[in-house]
Amino acid sequence: MRDGDVTKSAILLDWYDRNARPMPWRVSPQARLGGAVPDPYHVWMSEIMLQQTTVAAVRDYFVKFMDKWPTVFDLARAKDDEVMAAWAGLGYYARARNLLKCARVVANDLGGVFPGDEPALQKLPGIGPYTSAAIVSIAFNRPATVLDGNVERVMARFHLIKQPLPASKETLRDLARDMLPQKRFGDYSQAVMDLGATICTPRNPVCDLCPWAKGCKARALGVAKDLPNKLAKAKIPTRYGTCFVVMHKDGAVLLERRPEKGLLGGMLGWPGDAWSTDKADAVPPFAANWCIAPEEARHTFTHFHLKLRVQYVVVLNDFDCTFGHFKAADAFDPDELPTVMRKVWRLVQAVT
Ligand code: ADE
Repeated sequence: MRDGDVTKSAILLDWYDRNARPMPWRVSPQARLGGAVPDPYHVWMSEIMLQQTTVAAVRDYFVKFMDKWPTVFDLARAKDDEVMAAWAGLGYYARARNLLKCARVVANDLGGVFPGDEPALQKLPGIGPYTSAAIVSIAFNRPATVLDGNVERVMARFHLIKQPLPASKETLRDLARDMLPQKRFGDYSQAVMDLGATICTPRNPVCDLCPWAKGCKARALGVAKDLPNKLAKAKIPTRYGTCFVVMHKDGAVLLERRPEKGLLGGMLGWPGDAWSTDKADAVPPFAANWCIAPEEARHTFTHFHLKLRVQYVVVLNDFDCTFGHFKAADAFDPDELPTVMRKVWRLVQAVT
């Protein structure tokens, strides 16, 4: 640790004591001072949910999961489909599959105890360098360097690192490590992330309110909002597909569970063709009076935009279905579908 950084971390912790954002999984700095300790299960769950997502998007999901599965043993015993349904809408569904795998290892092989060091945590499904550092520091109050997008931005600005990401990642990690305090490791990790999320924001940093304004090299030069530099992202392609919404006159809907591997793996969805860059029309799965929805469902995944044509039909008679299964009206909850499939359902509802 360098001399000056002791005061830097103290200044940030002081700011955090006054400005920590309340979160359902967070033990406030005041409660922590009073002796409260975070539950590693809560910390792990929240950090998995927060990967690629914002605090605002995660709040309700976290509360729902804790309601349904208050301990790691409860989650380990849960049915896969139920967990996937509860996760629907949060995206990046491999995270939910790994969440369940990890819960089962912790409950069945580790007696329900999360490991307290980074190498052991990284052996568990779904836990990489970021999440292991977050758990070690926040749940166990041990030194570990969290480096998410917020921390990268704060470090790049404070130290004026002009080299673009991702090449600068290890430099930023080293700088972040050099600034760690000698105690309150969990509060400090959360403080840097909160600083990045609320003050040192990507477009309009509020430098006047920043506890680290003094000493921030980017601010001194008036270039804070321009950092970190990032290599220009390649334009992502558009893929096309068709999905078929089959509704029984009694209100049941025909759904298919998607294969475990691949995009939206293990999630329920409307039957359809494979998504591809060519716009060829798909052939409906059976002959009927199919209608075409006036609008396509549009959705952007990490690597491509998707435009889904939507065909729908109401069937009057029972029939033996060779694909998918009918879900009765009272058992169908569109919130259990991934976002793109919800969009399709909304389009059909608007015209039926
Ligand atoms: N982003 C991800 N995890 C976080 C945490 N524990 N506190 C603040 N922001 C976060």
